[in-house]
Amino acid sequence: MQIAIDGPASAGKSTVAKRVAQELGFIYCDTGAMYRAATVLAAENQLDYGDEAGILAKLTQQEISFKPGAPGHEQQVFLGQEDVTFAIRTPEITNNVSQVSALAQIRQALVAQQRQIASGHSIVMDGRDIGTTVLPQAQVKVFLVASAAERARRRYAENLTKGIETPLAQLEDEIVARDYKDSHRKVSPLTKAADAIEIDTTALTIDEVVAKIVDLAQKKQ
Ligand code: C5P
Repeated sequence: MQIAIDGPASAGKSTVAKRVAQELGFIYCDTGAMYRAATVLAAENQLDYGDEAGILAKLTQQEISFKPGAPGHEQQVFLGQEDVTFAIRTPEITNNVSQVSALAQIRQALVAQQRQIASGHSIVMDGRDIGTTVLPQAQVKVFLVASAAERARRRYAENLTKGIETPLAQLEDEIVARDYKDSHRKVSPLTKAADAIEIDTTALTIDEVVAKIVDLAQKKQ
């Protein structure tokens, strides 16, 4: 079974997707982490974030991989041998990832890898184009939304646990700007798949959202 969870920035996709995967015993793939890792790759090699050929060349030399974190910790993300778990979440990377993710050849390379990860497993995958492009046959498609103010509040709280102190109003502006770029790019922009179920998480707890998705999955099993 494939469960696709898409939606705008900071709508709670990865927290929810991870929990759904745990409850159902499926594997989990955070595709946003892969675009972030490609952005780190550009930064580390002093490449322009729009340098499609340059970033692609580096990407074909270094594999992006995941390792489960210790209990209670998030999964680790690797670029070749380098642990980039923290590097992919810095404001510099967050504010430039949309430029890298708009590059057609970078998307092509990462989508191929995402389909490879999904093959032969029951999986929960979260991102922006999972239900529309990566796994269009997914049995369960969910589009998670929440107000920009609520999403900024959640990101603010999450940032504090990581020692990042960006003012709340700035975070909201950055979230809105990133959504705009992700929704208006030429190649597989952020859109709700025609057969996706929209869940507004603004007033819901994580447990409630997880329960709704697990229920949708169980009805398809
Ligand atoms: O989900 P997360 O916020 O970590 O994603 C970071 C960025 O990666 C998004 O803003 C978007 O530009 C890009 N992305 C994408 N397609 C996906 C997942 C993420 O373009 N499937």
